[in-house]
Amino acid sequence: MAKSFFVCQNCGAEHRKWAGQCPDCGDWNCITEQVTEGPARVGSKGKVLPTASITAVSATKEPRRSTCIEELDRVLGDGLVSGSAVLIGGDPGIGKSTVLLQAAAKLADAESVLYITGEESPQQVHLRGERIGALHDDLKLISACELESMLVTISDQKPHAVIVDSIQTTVSNRLTSAPGTVSQVRDCAAALIQQAKQLGHALILVGHVTKDGSIAGPRVLEHMVDAVLYFEGDRGHAHRILRAVKNRFGPAGEIGIFEMTDRGLIGIRDASRLFLAERAKDTPGSVVLACMEGTRPLLVEVQALIAPTVYATPKRSAVGLDSGRVAMLTAVLERRIGLPLSQHDVYINVAGGARITEPAADLAVLMAMVSAYQEKPLANDVALFGEVGLTGEIRPVGQPEYRAREAANLGFTHLLMPHENHTRVQKANIIANMRTDTTPPLQFTAVRHLSEAVQAGLA
Ligand code: TYD
Ligand code: MG
Repeated sequence: MAKSFFVCQNCGAEHRKWAGQCPDCGDWNCITEQVTEGPARVGSKGKVLPTASITAVSATKEPRRSTCIEELDRVLGDGLVSGSAVLIGGDPGIGKSTVLLQAAAKLADAESVLYITGEESPQQVHLRGERIGALHDDLKLISACELESMLVTISDQKPHAVIVDSIQTTVSNRLTSAPGTVSQVRDCAAALIQQAKQLGHALILVGHVTKDGSIAGPRVLEHMVDAVLYFEGDRGHAHRILRAVKNRFGPAGEIGIFEMTDRGLIGIRDASRLFLAERAKDTPGSVVLACMEGTRPLLVEVQALIAPTVYATPKRSAVGLDSGRVAMLTAVLERRIGLPLSQHDVYINVAGGARITEPAADLAVLMAMVSAYQEKPLANDVALFGEVGLTGEIRPVGQPEYRAREAANLGFTHLLMPHENHTRVQKANIIANMRTDTTPPLQFTAVRHLSEAVQAGLA
């Protein structure tokens, strides 16, 4: 007899009864009924499996294929791995199909590529390909939504790389649930991934992101694939950031930076220049942070605005940074430096739409706030980094020499940084790329406590 159960479309949790709110994730109106198909599997009793010593396992280094898009290769950890599955997520219209079509055309130079489109017609894909110069004879296109046909076509064609755009439009005819629901997405992805491991082709799945930022429906998808890449960026800016949030074959946290042009997405190497392009000099509340995104140093402008509040509880709000962290730093500034911020709203913004997650941004946020409060601009040639603790102590951060080198290369001559990072930066003996005889040497202000940073007279 067919039994029914209830699945949360947000987190994938299964329940016996329907409810308005999912007890697991707390989301509302997300539980739908599903009917179990067929009898439960009758398992064998199991058998003893052969064991092998870890040293005896033969491991050939998995061959990687470059997508010839440098920024994409970087995020993938040096190219696509055969037999691996990659999930690319992001808001609709952010550029997932565009970058994959570009990569597919480049890959098709060396091998056969199958692009399965379930969202757009082949004509639409062709037109886009024509516009961005991504037409190639060995790039095969099919328009399909049905999982079973995809699997059969893939085993028939045996391509080296398969792109499924998107996993939400893929449906298995074994299931009765609608496309995009948890069980559909999970089962379709599982079948495609299993096939990729068996046949050894690289599989790329496109997934949409829900309003709260997770890949629609199942978080489970993230556990099933080898790498998860997210596209970030807002529509107001032309640049897009592709971030590896998980990667079994390379470093997570790596980012690729692109610009959306009329000829598709173009990788940007010199990203710091882009983020600092519109920086207003001599403005109170603006500082330049030297941060690390994965293995790449990046300079971004952090801005603060401090205004008398009209609310009973003053606002602390942040764009591009964690608001909780900003609230904490505001409290540190109040208690340790004595700025009376309890009657002021604090707004922090990372200019250009970048999103900074590392604590090394603390010092920049605080100095921007001090500068905004005192209405005194920080000197234009200063870049800074450092983590700040609750007592106001400045803690060292990772890879200070890379940050310093990037700052020097962009013409900054003065670094405000944690004292404990000082020796490492000095040993690295940073010399700017474009050094001329008139380039002043890099100066350091190395501090142990927030009060020293404030007193350094930079703001
Ligand atoms: P798309 O790759 O279709 O987004 P996704 O697959 O993530 O939903 O990107 C579509 C957007 O990109 C659309 O708003 C138009 C813009 N775009 C360009 O600006 N230039 C281009 O060359 C292309 C192909 C798209
Ligand atoms: Mg698309």
